[in-house]
Amino acid sequence: MAGGFVGTADTARVEAPTTWKSYMMCAFAAFGGIFFGYDSGYISGVLAMNYFIHLFTGLPIPGPNATTAETNAFVIPTPHKSLIVSILSAGTFFGALLAGDLADWFGRRFTVILGCFVYGIGCILQTASTGLGLLVAGRLIAGFGVGFVSAIIILYMSEIAPKGVRGAIVSGYQFAITIGLLLASCVDYATKDRTDSGSYRIPMALQLLWAVILAAGLFWLPESPRYFVKKGKLEQAARVLERLRDQPAGSELVQAELTEIIANHEYEMSVIPQEGYFSSWANCFRGGLRNPASNLRRTILGTSMQMMQQWTGINFIFYFGTTFFTQLHTINNPFLISLITTLVNVCSTPISFWIIERFGRRSIMIWGALGMVVCEFIVAIIGVTDTSKAAVSAMIAFICIYIFFFATTWGPGAWVVIGEVFPLPIRSRGVALSTASNWLWNCIITIITPYITSTSGGGVDLGPKVFFLWGSLCGVCLVYAYFLIPETKGLTLEQVDRMLEETTPMTSAKWVPHSTYAAEMGMTDKPAEVHHVEAGKEVV
Ligand code: BGC
Repeated sequence: MAGGFVGTADTARVEAPTTWKSYMMCAFAAFGGIFFGYDSGYISGVLAMNYFIHLFTGLPIPGPNATTAETNAFVIPTPHKSLIVSILSAGTFFGALLAGDLADWFGRRFTVILGCFVYGIGCILQTASTGLGLLVAGRLIAGFGVGFVSAIIILYMSEIAPKGVRGAIVSGYQFAITIGLLLASCVDYATKDRTDSGSYRIPMALQLLWAVILAAGLFWLPESPRYFVKKGKLEQAARVLERLRDQPAGSELVQAELTEIIANHEYEMSVIPQEGYFSSWANCFRGGLRNPASNLRRTILGTSMQMMQQWTGINFIFYFGTTFFTQLHTINNPFLISLITTLVNVCSTPISFWIIERFGRRSIMIWGALGMVVCEFIVAIIGVTDTSKAAVSAMIAFICIYIFFFATTWGPGAWVVIGEVFPLPIRSRGVALSTASNWLWNCIITIITPYITSTSGGGVDLGPKVFFLWGSLCGVCLVYAYFLIPETKGLTLEQVDRMLEETTPMTSAKWVPHSTYAAEMGMTDKPAEVHHVEAGKEVV
């Protein structure tokens, strides 16, 4: 495919230097991660709240003299727990799938704002609920909105961010997810002992705030230039690039970037033309398995990477952590331990802003998977051999180290890579499919987990042995990362396209840009000048 490509080493693409203003504009969208984190996080604490259990099961709250049997029986039944937690991911799965189309028809920004609106309706229903039916409906609808937001924010951020900081900016989304999880834990912690409906209604009502902030902020941000190029609105594309890069629309840098986006789009369209609605969906699966740059291969890469991210078992800690720590009877305050694990997640994530640009996506995913495997096996081994207080403390310490590895590598990395590997004609759908895969596996895992860890309601109760399972799955992630994840750091989205055509994942890190689509498509008479060297990738 690279045959006939006319560029030379000094035709590597250029981009305006990143200014503080453009950085902040791109970073704001990361706020969308708060939804994701808060929504999936608050439920773990609510499910363990006395008032909530009492109201939703009709069981009396066990008094100080209650027997162990009475205390153990005072829980939300496993099928209900599994339904309440997983229904959000089910809604999100469908929301994410639909969002890809909406983002191509109406724009990335509009789709996210619409997602905030849908999410808001879901929040109101949840807050109003006093029984299972309305709560489940509210979480399903909110999930739908989260699906819009989680898929399209990644797409939007990847498309507007300057290449040298794109990894860091998209990692900001993961950071916002962790803050959302932390906020949820704090709010749960603050309201858990209330003896009225405020205990669960306050955490639920607060969700609305995030929707309002994100929708209001996005209202002022520009649309993605790549969306305008896809729609053939080139003047608008130039105007948004002017705002995003903080450079006049007519400047050489903005024009060079725009020309390259247009040329890449035309090139991709000439390789696989899009006709009707269904055939444009079918494009995501075209090109065969043999070609590493085919759309099919990229779709498999994006969807499987998000599946693998869920297989790391991270949500076992964040969704069922409080319940799991309660079952390790030696722990006095399981809520506090959950809060600590969430804090470790938040504090570790910013490290990824730097390492993802310094060491690259591929290497951090490999090392991160290795770190997680080791920690999870240690937790499992301690858990099955020793139940003393000291052993439980050691388990918690290794769980925290495991979270550290996730938060600095696979957490942000999986989102960053899916925003980068799809070519423009299928990008919105590719990212949507990948995000849907994240939620599908999230849903499957949250349905199954209560059954393999609960002591009641027909659960198998693997206890700490469940970490053997997560450890083995992380082993699969390690092999996957080594053989399948390409290195995309420091490249424009268009260069990633070219790199995928010319390398394998194992050789991708060595690839350097050597030509432009604009030159290949005959859209420029002179090679673009290289203005600055970034992340070790730009060649002058
Ligand atoms: C994952 C979520 C997870 C979160 C934890 C995200 O990247 O997709 O499922 O809950 O990280 O920080």
